[in-house]
Amino acid sequence: MDTDAIKGLGTAENKDQLRFITCGSVDDGKSTLIGRLLHDSKMIYEDQMQALARDSVKHGTTGNDIDFALLVDGLEAEREQGITIDVAYRFFNTPRRSFMVADTPGHEQYTRNMATGASNAQLAIILIDARKGVLEQTKRHSFICSLLGIRHVVVAVNKIDLVDYRKEVFDRIVGDYVAFASALGFTSIVPIPVSARYGDNIINRYGNTDWYHGPCLMDYLESIDIQSDTAGLPFRFPVQWVNRPNLDFRGYAGTIASGRIAVGDEIIAAASGRNSRVKRIATYDGDLAQADAGDAVTITLHDEIDVSRGDMLARPTERPEIADQFAAHLIWMDQEAMAPGRSYALRIGTQSIASASITAIKHKIDVNTREHLAATTLGLNEIGFCNVATALPVSFDAYEANRRTGSFIVVDRYTNRTVGAGMIAFPLRRATNIAWQPLSVGKSERSTLKQQKPCILWFTGLSGAGKSTIANVVDQKLFAMSHHTMLLDGDNVRHGLNRDLGFTQADRVENVRRVGEVAKLMLDSGLIVICSFISPYRSERDMVRGFVEDGEFFEVFVDTPIDECERRDAKGLYAKAKAGKIKNFTGIDAPYEAPTRPEVHLETVGLEAEQLADRVVNTLMARGIIPMS
Ligand code: ADX
Repeated sequence: MDTDAIKGLGTAENKDQLRFITCGSVDDGKSTLIGRLLHDSKMIYEDQMQALARDSVKHGTTGNDIDFALLVDGLEAEREQGITIDVAYRFFNTPRRSFMVADTPGHEQYTRNMATGASNAQLAIILIDARKGVLEQTKRHSFICSLLGIRHVVVAVNKIDLVDYRKEVFDRIVGDYVAFASALGFTSIVPIPVSARYGDNIINRYGNTDWYHGPCLMDYLESIDIQSDTAGLPFRFPVQWVNRPNLDFRGYAGTIASGRIAVGDEIIAAASGRNSRVKRIATYDGDLAQADAGDAVTITLHDEIDVSRGDMLARPTERPEIADQFAAHLIWMDQEAMAPGRSYALRIGTQSIASASITAIKHKIDVNTREHLAATTLGLNEIGFCNVATALPVSFDAYEANRRTGSFIVVDRYTNRTVGAGMIAFPLRRATNIAWQPLSVGKSERSTLKQQKPCILWFTGLSGAGKSTIANVVDQKLFAMSHHTMLLDGDNVRHGLNRDLGFTQADRVENVRRVGEVAKLMLDSGLIVICSFISPYRSERDMVRGFVEDGEFFEVFVDTPIDECERRDAKGLYAKAKAGKIKNFTGIDAPYEAPTRPEVHLETVGLEAEQLADRVVNTLMARGIIPMS
């Protein structure tokens, strides 16, 4: 989205550049339209033209005419690095303006690609085939554009030549479009009848549509006022890095996201709320008296206040929101469905949040009908309205008010893939009447009394691997050695605390989260807590690890091959799962992610529970949790 990761912040922007996206399929003439814009604006060299003429005859679909679609498809596209999103950006200039067009290739434009292209566009060209009129995809594209904050739309009614340049056809399509788009909050909708193939109303008129008195497409693109969309926004300066070449200079470098600032102005650092005044605005080309949105600058302050990377500078009178919970629209971009409750990394502008989670999905949105549907997860290309919680407070604005500071991306902590993109709607405040109550008797007092070091022994493995059996023997052994323990077992906890949970991914994430929280409370009471859960996801096991201090969490991988578990099948569940009577059964039709570096790795085949339990107890001795016996 409109974050550094995608935009490559740090360089000054071309402020009068118009960034637009074209929406429509190849059949609607999308490539032909872009090719026509490039060609008619003389962006094509003579040799390219000749090659194109040759190719058109050979491969084209336009007889002996030039097939502009071939030109676009053959042009070297500037692609974003490192993200698996298919958007090509093409750049061209006319004497009046420079342009960046986001083109999302493919016959069908998936939500993910389209949203990425739309996220930094100021205008969308919605292509409609004059013969087909407003289609479901037209509505889908328009909705996504509006959700992504695009306020200007050109409705290009294309192939007008194929309906004999008839005004009635154009009027009917425009009527249909305006009727449904009126709810989408666009500031301007400009319909233009065009023939991308022959060039009508792209740059020239040619007299075929005498009844049309509006602008030609290029004329409109060159003249539309985009500055006023962002004029008047409050000053926002996300700090990209702290520039400290020597002790006498401390500057904050970044690109002004919105608004303007001048030397002498009062500012605050959003995170701390500390005030200061702007001393200098430095650039590579010397100091400025004032700077505005899009300028890459280094700001120095009169006072040494604590500002670090990811912080935001703003005016004291126009502060951004600061919260650790907010509601947002989220577009899911990954093959693997979203797991509510899972810990993801978040990037909001220059802020990197190591841990954040989607705490609730309020609804998902059918992109074709805009209906709200109940949902427990979001799959690839789905859009939902969610609550998000971050480990630390973040500063932001509502996306509607400021696209630059109101968008974020969700990143998988293991693969570093961008898995989602969000638009913040509003902050959610934690109940302000809840605070941490200081306790006088803590973990160390309680464990001293019990004469032991508390820890969590987390048994993970397939169903039937032997977790519960081994955990039970470990418990008996520790008890016999006078240690204070507690055993939490999957099947048992699911009779009470977690009786509302099943075996979907979301439910398992929540199962482990609750057990982790309970185990942490027991650890605080000084106990050795033994947990026995399939806990199939690495991410949640690591989450529980993160709940406690280093050295307090022991992952015990009960490693039994699935064939062996199936052969034992003590509860008859594998047979049922194979017969399709149980769904989401781990190892059959639900995944198990084996630990990569467990503290204890028990390969169970050929060994007795007794021997395996001894290995766990020995590890506790070796790590100083319990004394050597
Ligand atoms: S976890 O995946 O959420 O950690 P948990 O350990 O609590 O699972 O519960 C697993 C136990 O539930 C299994 O030992 C088995 O007895 C039972 N069970 C019932 N249905 C399933 C299923 N679909 N997948 C795995 N275990 C199941």
